[in-house]
Amino acid sequence: MIPFVDLKAQYASIKGEVQAAIQGVLDTCQFTLGSEVAAFEQEFASYSQAKFGIGVNTGTSALHLALLAAGVGSGDEVITVPFTFVATVAAIHYTGAKPVLVDIDPRSFNMDPAALESAITPRTKAILPVHLYGQPADMDPILAIARKRGLVVIEDACQAHGAEYKGRRAGSIGDMACFSFYPGKNLGAYGEGGMVVTNNPEYTRTIRMLRDWGAEKKYQHVLKGFNYRLEGIQGAVLRVKLRHLEAWTEARRTAAARYNQIFTGSAVAAPAAMSYARHVYHIYAIRTGQRQAWMEALQGQGIQTGIHYPIPVHLLPAYADLGYKAGQFPHSERAANEVLSLPMFPELSAQQCEQVGAAVLALARRS
Ligand SMILES: Cc1ncc(COP(=O)(O)O)c(C=O)c1O
Repeated sequence: MIPFVDLKAQYASIKGEVQAAIQGVLDTCQFTLGSEVAAFEQEFASYSQAKFGIGVNTGTSALHLALLAAGVGSGDEVITVPFTFVATVAAIHYTGAKPVLVDIDPRSFNMDPAALESAITPRTKAILPVHLYGQPADMDPILAIARKRGLVVIEDACQAHGAEYKGRRAGSIGDMACFSFYPGKNLGAYGEGGMVVTNNPEYTRTIRMLRDWGAEKKYQHVLKGFNYRLEGIQGAVLRVKLRHLEAWTEARRTAAARYNQIFTGSAVAAPAAMSYARHVYHIYAIRTGQRQAWMEALQGQGIQTGIHYPIPVHLLPAYADLGYKAGQFPHSERAANEVLSLPMFPELSAQQCEQVGAAVLALARRS
């Protein structure tokens, strides 16, 4: 049996450190925010080459508050992509703004900068590119358009801890970046978590207030805020795990390189690593026109796979009111029909990679 992800293997490798960190929070009783969260905010911001980090309870909350800090609200438009996890679009909806979608580049699976300019209207306030699967979007042309039009750029870096674009870390490229620490992410909490990172002290001040009921000081509520605080135990666990993140990322990259090598010269459509990117392989997705059959055949051999994501947001019933139709974003729709995520986690062994690779190769040969 080769699982899609193996959180137990990772826990086994850091059990003592994690238990000591959790015990430390139990001893201080700093269960929400507190010193472990504050230290983690600094450490993760610095890891992401940004000045400030504001810990929150989920990646979705990070996106929501970054948009609010950018001044996004009712009557505004925010541009993002349909080929993403639903949370990207949901966060825009929470602010009262209208999500405006543009198609992806089929090679990178990320926002196509060439599609951006024609989607901008006088109501556009922000651009929200997603670094899908752990590979940064092509940020320079996106930033150039944003600067020309006076728009804020918020990176959805929920899948891209430690990813780089031309040597710049995800988190240091746009005006703000949002991360998720959902357990299965490259840096995952033992519960939920998220963070906004930025170099901007004003955004930082606003988001710090908004995550904690909009209070400047206790009971001095200057903004209409939320209870989006990050828990102390999650801060402590994430500090432990951050110390291992570079090694885990390199292990993912090694596993991806093994898969790539196996698929070179074959009919298997391996994911493209763009020349500007340090891809951190949160997801390793191949493409196939026979996905259902391949998934079942792999499952039959004890190999778990996943689909990220089977329905682009514009075709989800929940977002039918955006008014988009099937066929409007052909690259997103085709990707949603074809992507198949292979097992990918730092502890995946060379032998497991070879077993998965050989099984996929055999399917491609038969197709
Ligand atoms: C691209 C993307 N955006 C946003 C989110 C939302 O993060 P969370 O689940 O922590 O709210 C996720 C992860 O789930 C994601 O993958």
